[in-house]
Amino acid sequence: MRAKIVAGNWKMNNNAGETQALAQGLVDAISNTDAQVVIAPTAVNLANAVTLTENSPIEVAAQNMHFADSGAYTGEISADMLQSIGVQTVILGHSERRAYFGEDDALLEKKVNQALAKGMQVIFCFGEELEERQADRHFEVVGSQLKNALYKLDAAAWKQIVLAYEPVWAIGTGETASPEQAQEMHAFIRKSLTEAYDAELANGVSILYGGSVKPANAKEIFSKPDVDGGLIGGASLKVADFKAIVDSI
Ligand code: G3P
Repeated sequence: MRAKIVAGNWKMNNNAGETQALAQGLVDAISNTDAQVVIAPTAVNLANAVTLTENSPIEVAAQNMHFADSGAYTGEISADMLQSIGVQTVILGHSERRAYFGEDDALLEKKVNQALAKGMQVIFCFGEELEERQADRHFEVVGSQLKNALYKLDAAAWKQIVLAYEPVWAIGTGETASPEQAQEMHAFIRKSLTEAYDAELANGVSILYGGSVKPANAKEIFSKPDVDGGLIGGASLKVADFKAIVDSI
């Protein structure tokens, strides 16, 4: 059975006090759930979030990290720094990192390799842009994002990887991929994994959908056979909304 996962990517939102309030609110609201629940606050608030969620089922993830062990990389955060405060999961490849910070497949391959070498879990994001979908190139784009960053990995490494398909045109736009579009792409991803590795491996990898998931649409999206949960942006910033999405799994 694949893990069901609902992860909240808080992006660049919530100062220390707001992190405290939201994390505490989620700890109080979410107790027994079948889903693996993850929150990803901004880097400076990770340590506090780890402390606040210590006795809860909620795990804390980072939104980014560097590929090097340490050194002259001003402003960057290493795997060791994350692990030293109790963070074992990192989101990599988010489209905002790709678009605004120039992260490409080759850089992401290095980051993924570093996270895996350190024993961390990776939530790897990818997805096509609007023009690519309109040009009917979405399968080709997603296929090459996966291949370039991930398909040199050993089969064993996939135990540490969760995939998150996030069509760029559906992020923060209020426009969601239809449940059918999500299922179609997730099935394509699983087929691509089967071809690159084998069916057993492909069936064991959790594939999350991200892009304007809300309490109103979560249940239907999560009901699709190849959708194993969601990576939630805006709706992860309110206790009631995120809890409702977790409850939709
Ligand atoms: O990583 C989550 C994401 O990019 C989706 O954001 O605000 O559309 O749920 P949002």
